Amino acid sequence: MIKKGIILAGGHGTRMSPLTKAVNKQLLPIYDKPLIYYPLSILMLAGIKDILIIVNKGQLNQFRKILSNGQRFGIKISYIEQNYPRGLPDAFILGEKFIGKDNVALILGDNFFYGQSLTTKLKNCRKIKSGCKILLHPVKKPELYGVAELKKGKKVHSLKEKPKSSKSNLAVTGLYFFDNKVVNYSKSLKPSKRKELEIIDVLEKYRRNNKLTAEFLGRGGAWLDTGSIDDYYSTSSFVSALENRQGLKVACLEEIALNYNWINKKLIRDSIQFYGNCIYSQYLKKLIQ
Ligand code: DAU
Repeated sequence: MIKKGIILAGGHGTRMSPLTKAVNKQLLPIYDKPLIYYPLSILMLAGIKDILIIVNKGQLNQFRKILSNGQRFGIKISYIEQNYPRGLPDAFILGEKFIGKDNVALILGDNFFYGQSLTTKLKNCRKIKSGCKILLHPVKKPELYGVAELKKGKKVHSLKEKPKSSKSNLAVTGLYFFDNKVVNYSKSLKPSKRKELEIIDVLEKYRRNNKLTAEFLGRGGAWLDTGSIDDYYSTSSFVSALENRQGLKVACLEEIALNYNWINKKLIRDSIQFYGNCIYSQYLKKLIQ
């Protein structure tokens, strides 16, 4: 059972400048809360309580201000700074001490997941004892993502990072579950042509050893990544439509923690005080009435 998770929340966010000049991309709003709440909610829904957030050098305080050490959500959050965006597998090199001898999940800080039976799926993925599990989802523009070609059901036949053309429309989403080998695999990587360590190269090592399995988010599931300004607006509209229709919030961290009995009403009251008088606090008040 995977107990530890990493959120990679660095990156220059160049495509979103000037929005990202002073504020980390993962702290920009998706409708009514910072983007980081959404990937964090996914790890929490999976049942993962020990979380490392990797942030850009100099931006640690921005994250601490809003998430602190995670106590408000009944979890433990630690942080590490990344000097420069060296590539996604750097998460396992920087996080080596945090990971120790355990298995680990990784979620990219700009990935958004939503859908029916997602929690059950996440809990199942978390059960892996050895190997690596990835989540696949069809996309219209596979050239923007890591792409998997499948053979016979769920067996991954090939993997490519942002291929110019591909027979497959199945993107590798930014949520991965790994055994402990991921640390050594990452340390053995060489930078790619774009001078980054590539997550696809890590996945390829698992694939070659017959240790890579794929799961599908399914048609009822939504996977959005918030790489551009337009993506921010469309993801925000998606969340706004859902929340205003249902009266239920997406990625309310305190609600997830309360439902899992990780926190009590007193901690919710602390959160209300922390956020001040706002719609989010009004929602929290309703939860404990
Ligand atoms: O979103 C899924 C895709 O994410 C996968 O399909 C690709 O295989 C994978 O390589 C990745 O592609 P991106 O081009 O979207 O990755 P990007 O460089 O945008 O980084 C994703 C997030 O990770 C982003 O929030 C910034 C953060 N990051 C990235 C790098 C390279 C870091 O914190 N540190 C880094 O060194």
